[in-house]
Amino acid sequence: MKETSTTFVTVAKVGEIPDGGIKIVRVGDQELAIFHVAGEYHAIADVCTHDGGPLAEGILDGHVIECPRHGARFDVRTGAVLSPPAVAPVPKYEVKVMGDEIQVAWP
Ligand code: FES
Repeated sequence: MKETSTTFVTVAKVGEIPDGGIKIVRVGDQELAIFHVAGEYHAIADVCTHDGGPLAEGILDGHVIECPRHGARFDVRTGAVLSPPAVAPVPKYEVKVMGDEIQVAWP
C-alpha cells in the first residue's frame, strides 16, 4: 500500500500568538483554532462537537478550552472532551514550527 504524505500549511508566524493566546485560521474549508500554551502550539477544529460552538472564542485555562456556548471543556493538546455536554472529541491537527513559521498538518 502506498503511504500518503502529509502536507504542512503555514498558519502563523512565531511571535504572532502570545502565550495563552488563540488564533483562528482557515485551512481548506475548515476553521482551526491555534493555541499557544507554555511555549507549545496546538491546533484543533474551531467547532465544538456538541452544537458547533466557536471554541476559539471560549476561555483558555492552561491546556483547557471551554466552549463559549454551553461550557463543554476540551484538552487543546488532544481534542479530548473533559466535561459535558459534548461527548465526542474535537479533531486535532499536528503542529510543527519551521524557522519562524507555525505549520499545521493538512492531510
Ligand atoms: S456548542 Fe459547545 S458546549 Fe454546546
